[in-house]
Amino acid sequence: MSQEEKLESLKKRYGRKRPAEGFGGPAGPGPGPGGPGRAKRMGFGRPANGKGTILRLLGYLKGDTLKLFLAFVCIILNTIGTLLGSYLLRPIINTYIVPADGSRGDPAGLTRALALMAFIYLVGVGANYLQARIMLTVAQTALKKIRNDLFGKMQSFPVRFYDTNSNGDLMSRFTNDVDTVGMMLSNTLVQLFAGILSIIGTLLLMIYTNLWLTLVTLVMIPLMMRAGKAVAKRSHRFFSAQQASLGAVNGYIEEMITGQKVVKVFCHEQAAQEEFDLLNRDLRDNQIRAQFFGGVMGPVMGNLSQVNYSLTACIGGLLCIFRNFDVGGLTVFLNFSRQFSRPINEISMQISNVFSALAGAERVFSVMDEAPEPADDTDAAVLEPMKGHVALDHVTFGYYPEQVILKDISLYAKPGQKIAFVGSTGAGKTTITNLINRFYDIQGGTITIDGVDIRHIRRDNLRKNIAMVLQDTHLFTGTVMENIRYGRLDATDEEVIQAAKTASAHSFINRLPQGYQTMLEGDGANLSQGQRQLLNIARAAISRAPILILDEATSSVDTRTEKHIEHGMDRLMANRTTFVIAHRLSTVRNANAIMVLEHGEIIERGDHEDLVAQKGRYYELYTGLSELE
Ligand SMILES: Nc1ncnc2c1ncn2[C@@H]1O[C@H](COP(=O)(O)OP(=O)(O)O)[C@@H](O)[C@H]1O
Ligand SMILES: [Mg+2]
Repeated sequence: MSQEEKLESLKKRYGRKRPAEGFGGPAGPGPGPGGPGRAKRMGFGRPANGKGTILRLLGYLKGDTLKLFLAFVCIILNTIGTLLGSYLLRPIINTYIVPADGSRGDPAGLTRALALMAFIYLVGVGANYLQARIMLTVAQTALKKIRNDLFGKMQSFPVRFYDTNSNGDLMSRFTNDVDTVGMMLSNTLVQLFAGILSIIGTLLLMIYTNLWLTLVTLVMIPLMMRAGKAVAKRSHRFFSAQQASLGAVNGYIEEMITGQKVVKVFCHEQAAQEEFDLLNRDLRDNQIRAQFFGGVMGPVMGNLSQVNYSLTACIGGLLCIFRNFDVGGLTVFLNFSRQFSRPINEISMQISNVFSALAGAERVFSVMDEAPEPADDTDAAVLEPMKGHVALDHVTFGYYPEQVILKDISLYAKPGQKIAFVGSTGAGKTTITNLINRFYDIQGGTITIDGVDIRHIRRDNLRKNIAMVLQDTHLFTGTVMENIRYGRLDATDEEVIQAAKTASAHSFINRLPQGYQTMLEGDGANLSQGQRQLLNIARAAISRAPILILDEATSSVDTRTEKHIEHGMDRLMANRTTFVIAHRLSTVRNANAIMVLEHGEIIERGDHEDLVAQKGRYYELYTGLSELE
């Protein structure tokens, strides 16, 4: 592969921004899990429904109408102050510096007039300050509401939502997109309004001061804008190239930092360095080009406005000599013609900000519009206390309707019974547990608890009564104590310690620097995988739920520790319905019933002795497993 091809492929891989696309309605049928379709669907850069989005954004400003009104009054005051202040120079020059009658200037009058001018400017500045304060409060209040709505919505989403959307993308909606909206609310809107006001005001004053000179400016401004545009267009191209290179370099660095260990393990440091060098050089080249053109743009515009200035001064001077145009008028006019082009440039910049903010707002709103978990039936049951009879009756399920994962699963578990699921990876063990607590709803058959269909049990009631150790552990930022207590918030310290003992976590916790008060950060990065699992088990152990689900809860724990846990757990499981998924035989051997799953079907069931006697799949697994142990 040539260097260029290599660079292209690297940039394609790492230069991609975060998958910043829109959501497609409720996760519809997509290609299989893990396929490219699972990651993302259609996207948009520009707002698709600008008007609706604007109205919705305005809805967030509703409570602050009075403040908004005040802010706009301030903007008007500021514009008037600025224009009036500049215009005042005309009478000042004409009356106090070079009086029309040829007499000498009047220093005292000049001082008074200048004081008045300063006062007017001050009022303008004060109004501007007030406006900025008000708009900041208004915008931040709106942002707070938006973030709250978004977060509230996220808590209500079904598990499916999180399974089908990338975390990075969600995070960027929460941060980047909300931020761009905030920028627009606090800044852009104001600047647009102020810019338009000041253009109109300046133009009117220019016409009032001298019509002919105004015509000169009106001819020159479009010329200046065209030149600016030409430069901007090219620099935009180089600027995009620079951003792409920058994205690639950042993406590469990010991946190499997170994957540093793997890089070291396979001795890829040299290759990584070379690849980085390639990307880095590309960034340098593009940055030079972009910044050169960025740097050219200013001077070009500057030169043209010098031309405009000289031309106006020249014609204005002639008008003074031959047409009685006053010197004061010429002075303020020259100022105005300088000021005139500034808001025009600003407005064109702000308009692109508005577009990106609207696109951001749309991405935020599209999350808000996702369907939440359907509400419980109004007559949904509350089982208090729940005993823990669990029955699956001919259950059929697929994450996508046309792709059946579980076929015709039936089983019955009494309180105090231990049901084990065994089977190869991908057989559907975790999926069954996801159905019992209604992370997903089934497509066929019924699941009942204590004889009640779980679709007619209130979700909070259902989930409160099922303690679960998920296959993927998660620890929150907080102390060990707090993390275990997450399982039951009213547990006392003694109960937490008891649960830790049950889970065989007590001794290692005591060896941590601050024992139970040790802070865990970054999902427990300072613990071993097995220790994380023990904490998750302790969290389940502290709950008093009558149903317990352990999904490969001890997969990273050594066999000796696992035996310890089992003794503790036996007590815990005594009168609970327990579902265990485990790869170790010792864990499943004493279960009341073992279900062997294969491609989503129960192919064998019975207790350990029955299944060994059958000499089927379980026997195969068993003999294989016992060899390993
Ligand atoms: N969130 C999901 N969306 C779509 N398919 C999934 C999802 N989770 C698991 N699957 C698929 O369901 C099948 C069963 O997975 P799972 O129940 O996790 O197996 P295991 O027996 O290893 O726990 C696998 O083919 C897997 O690819
Ligand atoms: Mg699993």
